[in-house]
Parts: sequence; structure tokens; C-alpha cells
Amino acid sequence: MKKAAAKPAERGIRPPDKSTASAFASSWNNVRPGSVYTEVQFLDWMSPLRPQDLKDASVIELGYGNGSLLVHSAACAPSRLVGVELGDTQQVARANLAGSRIEPELVRGDLCEVDAGRFDVAYCIGVLHHLKEPERGFAALLRHTRPGGRFHAWVYGREGNGLVIALVDPLRKIASKLPWWFTKYLIAAPAVLPYFLWARLSEDAAARWPGLRRSLSRLPLYDYTRWIAVREFWFFHHVAFDQLVTPQTRYFSEAEVRQFLMDPEIDPASIYVVPRNGNSWKFGGRKRSEVSA
Ligand SMILES: C[S@@+](CC[C@H](N)C(=O)[O-])C[C@H]1O[C@@H](n2cnc3c(N)ncnc32)[C@H](O)[C@@H]1O
Repeated sequence: MKKAAAKPAERGIRPPDKSTASAFASSWNNVRPGSVYTEVQFLDWMSPLRPQDLKDASVIELGYGNGSLLVHSAACAPSRLVGVELGDTQQVARANLAGSRIEPELVRGDLCEVDAGRFDVAYCIGVLHHLKEPERGFAALLRHTRPGGRFHAWVYGREGNGLVIALVDPLRKIASKLPWWFTKYLIAAPAVLPYFLWARLSEDAAARWPGLRRSLSRLPLYDYTRWIAVREFWFFHHVAFDQLVTPQTRYFSEAEVRQFLMDPEIDPASIYVVPRNGNSWKFGGRKRSEVSA
């Protein structure tokens, strides 16, 4: 009898995203307890999916970090909730999810390899742009969607991120090779402080003098700055550290995002590509009920 092909882990091959996942674990295991996102942020990330789309549905998140989005998904009362994560963050995620309406099943593994079943809703937020093989990540998102079910993703955009690509990305290439605590406290914290002050001061000034908003809106990262300005310094610091600690980041153009959606398994009438904060893309749709031959 022929033996089943061994999985990469059994063959001793490192998953290609292992170093990315360990870098993120240093972020998730050293951030304050609870979801790092507000409910408003969750709803914004998930839309056009709405809480009622998750209610009584089977739902999976690919790349759940410390469970920050799972906390909010659980509050939508799905019938089943599963998370897949390669990094060593299960303990902190379990603590964050304690007391949720539904206990999520947490699977440790490479989302490109894992097969956790087929779900009514499959989502993947902030992960595909960190994968060595984003196409395999997207294929995994579709694989986890049942025929007729919905999938949803969010990635960094190439459009609107010129400043980040010119300034932050070169710094990331160096900072991601340093000890995590050095990057977090000695690079990310001082680097993000001026941006925090700018975000807060420019929003306060625009609230006081509304005529200023037109000029501010011409500046790079304007929508993103408005979005993050409502948050505390620790959140700015967390985001800056996430940006700098990861060894792998890609910025997707709208055309590249649309390329993902050309898959014949997707119902073309269902697809959407929505710009978010002027520098990222939300996209998704429905898997066809039946794939035509
Ligand atoms: C930026 S975080 C986003 C986490 C979460 N989705 C959120 O929005 O808070 C990216 C996560 O993807 C995980 N990840 C990266 N590559 C992965 C892979 N191949 N399989 C599973 N998880 C992976 C990382 O460990 C990290 O926790």
C-alpha cells in the first residue's frame, strides 16, 4: 500500500512563515491584556460583513494573533468559532477569550497547510501581506469557505502608502533583525511619539478650526491619521512595533488584489474591493455554490 505524503512539519521542513510568526508572538505576548481593538474598529475591519452575518454561522479566522478580533467575533454569537495561528500565542489568546459567549477552537499551525474544515464565513485580517506566499494564504482562505459561503480579507495597499514604503519599510528591514525588546522600546516608541503628537494636535486643530481640514486632507496618510488619532499612545506604539518587528511585509496594489479575486471558485457577482483609510484594501465575496466543470 502507498504511504500518504508526509506533511512539511513531519518532513522537518520549517514553515516559511515561522520567523514572521515568532516575531509577531513577541508583539502579542507583550501587549496589554484584552482585545487591542475597539468594537468600532472591529466593525470597520469586517464591513461589509455585519455582526448578523456572523450570528449562528460557523466562522474561522486565519492568523488570529492574540485573539483580538476573535473576542469581537465571539460577541456576535456564531455557532462555531475557530482560529488558526502559527505563532506561540495560544495562552494569551485563551486568556483574552475567557468568558466569551462561545469558546473558540484554537488551532496552532501554518494557515497555508492546515485544513480546519469548511465555514460559512472565513476571514483573514492583516495576515496575507506578511506571508512569504500570499497566494497560498488566499487559497487557504477560499479552501476554508464552504460553497456559497463568504470570505473576507484586509491587506496593506501600495496606493496611499508611499511615505510608509519610503521611511518605515527600510527601517523595518533593519529593526526586524534586532532583539524584539530593543525594537519595541528603543526604536518603535521614540519613532512613533512625534506621529502620535502630530495625529492628536492636527485633529484637535481641525476640530477647532474646521477650515484647516481641507489643507490637512492633502497630506499623506490623512485618512489613516484620522482613524488612529482617537486611540491612546499604547495603541500607536503597538502598531509601530508590529510594523517594525516583522521580517516580511508586502504592499498590494488594487490590481494585485483584483487578481486574487479572479479565482473560478468565486462568484464574480459577489466580489468587492473597498479602500480603507486611503492606504489599504478590504476585499472578499462568496464562493460559488457549485464549481462549473
Ligand atoms: C498582523 S497580525 C494580525 C493578527 C490578527 N488577525 C489581528 O488583526 O489582530 C498577523 C498574524 O498572522 C500570523 N501568521 C503569519 N503567518 C502565518 C501562517 N503562515 N499561518 C498562521 N498564522 C500566521 C502571525 O503570527 C500574526 O499573529
